[in-house]
Amino acid sequence: METSGESQQELSLDSPQGSGDGGAGKSSSRRLGLVVTGLLGGSLVALYAVAAPFVLPALRKVCLPFVPATTAQVENVLRVLRARSGTLVDIGSGDGRIVIAAAKRGFQASGFELNPWLVWYSRYKAWREGVHCSSSFHISDLWKVSFAQYSNVVIFGVPQMMDQLELKLASELPSSAKVVACRFPFPTWVPENTAGEGIDTVWVYDARTFKSQLQQGMTRKTMPEQEDT
Ligand SMILES: C[S@@+](CC[C@H](N)C(=O)[O-])C[C@H]1O[C@@H](n2cnc3c(N)ncnc32)[C@H](O)[C@@H]1O
Repeated sequence: METSGESQQELSLDSPQGSGDGGAGKSSSRRLGLVVTGLLGGSLVALYAVAAPFVLPALRKVCLPFVPATTAQVENVLRVLRARSGTLVDIGSGDGRIVIAAAKRGFQASGFELNPWLVWYSRYKAWREGVHCSSSFHISDLWKVSFAQYSNVVIFGVPQMMDQLELKLASELPSSAKVVACRFPFPTWVPENTAGEGIDTVWVYDARTFKSQLQQGMTRKTMPEQEDT
C-alpha cells in the first residue's frame, strides 16, 4: 500500500504543478545554457575556419605570410612587363591584386594561392572588376604546381624560399619567359632590369640567362674536377 508520503513525492516529481516555478525555471535555464554553448562552439569553429588559412602558413617550413603588394609595387611590375603579353602567373596571389591588374592590361593572368578565402575573394573581385574571363585563381600549393605554361611569372616571396624557387623555375620555364621578383631578389640570378626603390623594388630576370646559368652549374658539377699540375 502507498503511504501518503510516497504519493506526495511522486506528485512533486511528475507533475509540473507539483514542482512549481522552480522546475520550469531550471529547464528553461538548461535550454538557455545549451543554446549559449552551441552558439559559442559554432562561433569558435567559424573563427577557426576563417583564421586558420591565414595562420597556418606561418607554421610551414618556409613561412610565406599574406602581405599584399603596395600600389607602387603593382605599378612597377606592370611597368617592367609593358612590352610583354600572353600568359602571366602570380605565385602566391594573395587577394589577387597583381593578377587583376595584369588582366586589365591584356594578360591572360592566373594566380596560385594556398588560402581558399583569398582565392574566393580574388574570384569575386575579378568578376566585379569585369576581368573574370581573362583571369583565373587556383587553390594550390606553389611547390606542387608546374609553371611551365607561363611566359611571365611574378613572385612576391620571402628570402628563405628564393634559392629553392630558382631551381624550380629554371627547370620548368621556357627560355622565352621573364620572371619578376618583388621586394626580395633571387640569390644567384643576375637581373636584366630593376624598377622602383626600397620595399617597392622589382627585379626582372630573363629565363634564357638563368637557364644557361643552371646548365653551366650542372655541367660543372657533373664534370670531374681538373687537378692542378
Ligand atoms: C607576400 S604574399 C603576396 C601576395 C600577392 N602576390 C601580392 O603581391 O599582393 C604571399 C602569398 O603567398 C601565399 N602562400 C604562402 N604559402 C604558399 C604556398 N605554399 N602555395 C601557394 N601560396 C602560398 C600566402 O597565403 C600569401 O597570400
